[in-house]
Amino acid sequence: MRVAAVLPAGGAGLRMGDRGVRKQYTELAGEPVLLRSLRPFLDHPEVEWIVVALPADDVEGPPFELPPGVTVVPGGVERGDSVRAALAAVPEAAEAVLIHDAARPLVPPAVVDRVLRALGPDVGAIAAVPVADTLKEVDGGGTITRTVDRSTLWRAQTPQGFPRSMVVDAYERAAAEGAAATDDAALVERYGGRVVVVEGDTRNLKITRPEDLRLAEVLVADGDP
Ligand code: CTP
Ligand code: MG
Repeated sequence: MRVAAVLPAGGAGLRMGDRGVRKQYTELAGEPVLLRSLRPFLDHPEVEWIVVALPADDVEGPPFELPPGVTVVPGGVERGDSVRAALAAVPEAAEAVLIHDAARPLVPPAVVDRVLRALGPDVGAIAAVPVADTLKEVDGGGTITRTVDRSTLWRAQTPQGFPRSMVVDAYERAAAEGAAATDDAALVERYGGRVVVVEGDTRNLKITRPEDLRLAEVLVADGDP
């Protein structure tokens, strides 16, 4: 299978607070988060193309040199806009696309492989982990109305992989309708596409808040992933 990887790295990192450098460029144990997130795809024998969406201001002069062979495009206002811009730069020869948040620098290569193995000509696959917490449904006044059965609930991670035409079509339709989603699978699902989950990894965390970066430092010091 001919595979492309798309990494949305065009966010502002607002929930990290003002650190002087965007979170995708922050060093995690001495190496920028974005380079760590890229590595499993750079090293993967089946990944032929990699497209990174950067904040538009950074495209001319990224804060560090991106590895050779990586195509850079300007991202957009929302994550979905950045993904769509990156998908537009994926050659039609790519049969499948893996979409991976630049803010997930600890994705184990085995998770990338599981997603790739599970996707097919008309099915997408995403990394996910079963929900561990008890979930409560709560009304506007703060009173619990229901305890949700968590046995069928999973937390979505990335990478999320799809046949190229399936995800490109979903993004085009969503743009035409003005529909937004926080993950790629949600758009594919919206238009009736079948998407399966494969086992992700709890260490595949998304750097969202400062404490996530500290936790990631500990995981790297422990030798993960
Ligand atoms: N992203 C993007 N373009 C955007 C917004 C987000 O490419 N306009 C990327 C981020 O760089 C990140 C991934 O999408 O790799 C997941 O988004 P998130 O964790 O929300 O990052 P930010 O949007 O940067 O952070 P925040 O929401 O706290 O501002
Ligand atoms: Mg965001």
